[in-house]
This record gives sequence, C-alpha cells and structure tokens, in this order.
Amino acid sequence: MSKTPIDFDTVSTILNQSNIQDLGTATIREIVGIVNKIEEATGTQFIRMEMGVPGLKPPQVGVQAEIEALKRGVGSDYPMLDGIKPLKDETSKFIKNFMNIEISPVNCIPTVGSMQGGYAAFMLVSNLHKERDTALFIDPGFSVQKTQFKVMGHKYTNFDVYNYRGSKLRNKLEALVSKGNINSIIYSNPNNPSWICFTEEELKIIGDIANKYDIIVLEDLAYFGMDFRRDLSKPGQPPYQATVASYTNNYMLMISSSKAFSYAGQRLGMVCISDSLYCREYSQLKERFGVAQLGYTFVQRLIYTLSSGVCHTAQYGLAAIFKAANEGTFDFVNEVRTYGERASIMKRIFTENGFKLVYDKDIDQELADGFYFTISYPGMQSGELIKHLMYYGISAIGLITCGSERTEGLRACVSHVNPLQFPELEARAKQFHHDFPLA
Ligand SMILES: Cc1ncc(COP(=O)(O)O)c(C=O)c1O
Repeated sequence: MSKTPIDFDTVSTILNQSNIQDLGTATIREIVGIVNKIEEATGTQFIRMEMGVPGLKPPQVGVQAEIEALKRGVGSDYPMLDGIKPLKDETSKFIKNFMNIEISPVNCIPTVGSMQGGYAAFMLVSNLHKERDTALFIDPGFSVQKTQFKVMGHKYTNFDVYNYRGSKLRNKLEALVSKGNINSIIYSNPNNPSWICFTEEELKIIGDIANKYDIIVLEDLAYFGMDFRRDLSKPGQPPYQATVASYTNNYMLMISSSKAFSYAGQRLGMVCISDSLYCREYSQLKERFGVAQLGYTFVQRLIYTLSSGVCHTAQYGLAAIFKAANEGTFDFVNEVRTYGERASIMKRIFTENGFKLVYDKDIDQELADGFYFTISYPGMQSGELIKHLMYYGISAIGLITCGSERTEGLRACVSHVNPLQFPELEARAKQFHHDFPLA
C-alpha cells in the first residue's frame, strides 16, 4: 500500500485513543472530535463532510433588519409568545407563494430553530391520545429528533424507506399504522441524510393515511426549496415545494431558517399548523395541560414553558427575508444553489473512484444534487469505511446513526467542502481506489 495522505501512525494512534469500537455508529460530534485531533496533530486539512452546518453568509436583508430592530430598542421587550405580526404575515404569504398552501398568519409560530419546533411538536403529538403513544419516523432521518424523544421519555418507532418507495409505501404505512398506537408520522423532505425527495404520489399516500387514521404529519422542511431539479424560486408560480399539505389537513410544517436561508446562528424556525388542526380540541390535552385546543396548547403551554418565545431581532430578520422572497427581490433558492453544484462534482469524484451512491433514485428519477449525498465502497461496512477514509483525510458519518438499514453507507455533507479542495478530494479518492482495488 502506498503512503497514505495523512500520516498513518498518527491516525492509528488517535483512532486507538478514541476508544470507539465502531466508527459507523459514532455520533457526528465524536467524528468531529477525532478529525480535529488528527488535523491538529498533522497540520493537514481534511475534506470534512461529517457535519451539516451551513457554509454561506446570512442574507444581508435579514442582517440589516435585525440591526434596525435592535437600534429601535426591541432588545428590551419580551416578544409575544406566538411571534411578531410581520413575521407571521410574511410566513403565511411565503407558504402561499412557494407551496401554494393557505395557512392563516395566526397559525404560523416562530420557534428557537426547528430543533425547538420539533421538540414542542413531538411533545404535543405524544400527548393527544392515551392509547396512541408512539410516533413513526419515516427514516433515514435527523438523529437528534430521536434523541429528543428519548429525553422526553416518549415513544417512537421507525422504518427505512429505502425498500418502500412509490406505491409500496402505502402497504408499509398501513401495516404499521393500523396497529392503532401511532399518533404521528415524521420525515424531512428533501431528506437529511439521503436527499431523497418524496414524489407527489408518496406525499399523497402519506396524506391519505393521515386522513384515514387521523394521524398528524410533522413535515420537516429544513431544506425548503432545495430540490434543485425544479425551479422552486418564483413566488406565486409553479412548480411549488412539494408537501403533504396538498393532501391532508392533519399537518404541522417545520420551516427552519438555518439551511435554506443560511440563518442557523439566529436559531429561528417556523412551525406552521393547518388552520383546522390548530383549532382542534383533544380531551387528553385538557387533562394533561389544562387546555383542549391543539394550537393554544402549543403556544401557551409548550413554547411558553420552553423559551417564552423567540429572539426578538431574529424575528424581524426572518420577516424581512420572507418579505423580500415574497416580493421577488431576494432569490433564496439561488443563494443556496451552490450546494447542489458542489454535490454534483463530489458525487462524480466518488463514483469515478469505485464508490457507489446508496440512496440514488427517487423512483425512476436521478436524485437531486443538494446538501447531502450518500456513498458506500463495495465490500466495506460503514465503520470500516469511515476508518479507512480517515487515513485519506476524508470524514463522514455512518448512515446507521440516521435510522438507515444501509449498514454500508455514509452520509456526506457538502456545505463545508470548499470547491478549492476538489482537486485534493479527487487525488485522495483516486489513491483510496488504488489502495483498495475492487475485484
Ligand atoms: C432535517 C432537519 N430538521 C431540523 C434541523 C434543525 O434545524 P434548526 O437549525 O432550525 O434547529 C436540521 C438541521 O440540521 C435538519 O437537518
């Protein structure tokens, strides 16, 4: 074997010291810790694909609005629990313009990132029915959400959608949901980590099941508008961001500002509850929280006790971003298109060097290029692959940690890979392929 791009002994020592038995099940932060140590010890930069953090500047229109709001003195005022009016109004318009769905401003509620939106929504759906105590994740998914369930002590179950795309999804969902214990269905679309995007047929199936079994769909749109195969950037014009809201009224949408709007630091997302679901009353909520209405409970019990609302200036920032998007003066999709361009090149580099894409199709269509993609190397399990790649200065996380059954797969995130590193990535992938020849 030729000399590895990163010093072999240093990598081996640090990996041994880490005491992690199987890197395929290591958390993102564990991988980050190991890579930081290797980079520090060797002075050589990795191609870092492990962490899903945005790599772009926040939109100026948001920054400016925040500065002005801070100067006006909003920093000393508690914001209303359910958000400032301009943000609620612009969110409602945004949903109409970019999804073709109508939700009243009152039902659009800011949360401290979709992380808090999810936490509150998961707590809500877990307390609607005594007998329906389990949430259903359509995986792969964003692993921290399962940690949230564990922290709360609420139940969830999951399945990997890999073998259940298209019409097969209906039977799979029916089989799980008809047991009578499921209160909600959760997924992200586009999907973290696989970047699959559900088709209209699949979203209709999910909506039909939600209607038939009176289940709430929690649709996580953290990567809103980022299916770059279609131009989703024009306000009020099709095509629109695909959504289950076209097929059921039993939904809560989570729109994070972090990735699609490069606003992660401001910790702001919107939970948008369908008008009819917001008003629904549940006797179990009354018993548990003292109020029966779903929307009221979400705002006045859950958001109130979790954080008492959301950073005041950040709300003005996002309101300005949505307003500019609604008026067509800020093309938010174009701002993040660079992720898709990077993914296309990186996928080519890996596949030309023996790697395979794990989740590679939306039924009959090539997967979109976006924030993440998934890879494997024939004959290797994910832990082994992560370990070997460390010697080549490439880092990623195992798909098993995301609820995937593809034990050979890794999630690669493009956001922190600078295009200037592509020649280096190509050289390292080539050497890896040479050192691990395929039969
Ligand atoms: C699918 C998904 N949901 C939610 C989040 C969290 O979003 P936020 O930064 O708004 O808390 C992320 C962030 O990586 C994500 O990938």
